[in-house]
Amino acid sequence: MENTDISVGFAGLKLANPVFTASGTCGYADELADFFDINLLGGFITKSITASPKKGNPDPRIVETDSGMLNAIGLANIGLQRFIEEKIPILEKFKPAVFVNIAGQTIDEYIAVAEKLSKEKAIAGFELNISCPNVKKGGITFGTEPEQVEQITRAVKAVSGDKILTVKLTPSVTDISEIAQAAVNAGADALSLINTFTAMVIDIETQKPVLANRTGGLSGPAIKPIAVYLVNKVYNEVAKKAKVPILGMGGIRTASDAIEFIIAGAAAVAVGTWNFIEPDSCEKIIEGIKQYCKEKKISIISELTGTLKS
Ligand SMILES: Cc1cc2nc3c(=O)[nH]c(=O)nc-3n(C[C@H](O)[C@H](O)[C@H](O)COP(=O)(O)O)c2cc1C
Repeated sequence: MENTDISVGFAGLKLANPVFTASGTCGYADELADFFDINLLGGFITKSITASPKKGNPDPRIVETDSGMLNAIGLANIGLQRFIEEKIPILEKFKPAVFVNIAGQTIDEYIAVAEKLSKEKAIAGFELNISCPNVKKGGITFGTEPEQVEQITRAVKAVSGDKILTVKLTPSVTDISEIAQAAVNAGADALSLINTFTAMVIDIETQKPVLANRTGGLSGPAIKPIAVYLVNKVYNEVAKKAKVPILGMGGIRTASDAIEFIIAGAAAVAVGTWNFIEPDSCEKIIEGIKQYCKEKKISIISELTGTLKS
């Protein structure tokens, strides 16, 4: 299968294939390198980086659920300075397109991180996390109001230099297309969807929530059909017309899952929770997509994007 070409264009980048690792599930750089050759990926998205280091939420901050998991990590991360000193030198050697996921409590914090990183050659783009459900200040609050989404997207785009800007959307809104349109109006080069759903697990002995944060973000196979639906909705209502690519994610486990997202309208896909279950799943998904393209005689995989039939 080695020679089957599944390269794709993504917001002006040429990727070897449409498979990314999703933010928060693959570390900052080479944490998954013991499990598979990271250079096989089309793209790599770092854990969210904030201007200063963050300890995140107290434990317990992860709990398994039927077909998924809840996390309330709370954007724990090493901070911008350590990221530049320790991780950028590793990322400089990466073949996949590297996207740094940026989070913050204020618009100025997002701007500071983007501005500083805009000079780094190792980075192809930024993923703007305005959809984290697990922090009290910032996070999702920036991603639920169209005016706020426009403001933050425009401000970050203005300091991003030649970096691609993808805006990561929360599913916890009445109309995700309204939010997607706001991001596109403000100059987003791509849209990432979806982030996790706010959810809760209760311990019936203590009658308390299992997570110290009370709630967490639901991810994994449980959310996949909703994610596929939302990708298709945003593709039909916003992305197709605007010619803005979608990075689809939410519960992807196999190549067929990834292909479902592509048919729904995604130009590329990201694998998140499943990296914890099967850390080499991305490699298998890439091989599976090649197999599908070979069997279906698809020579340009981007032609499969948005081919859902009625
Ligand atoms: C443990 C964990 C940590 C995450 N951390 C981040 C993060 O730092 N920034 C972010 O934008 N998304 C984060 N996410 C969300 C994922 O990138 C992804 O959008 C979501 O989990 C849906 O994909 P999945 O079902 O394949 O995991 C995290 C998800 C998990 C499970």
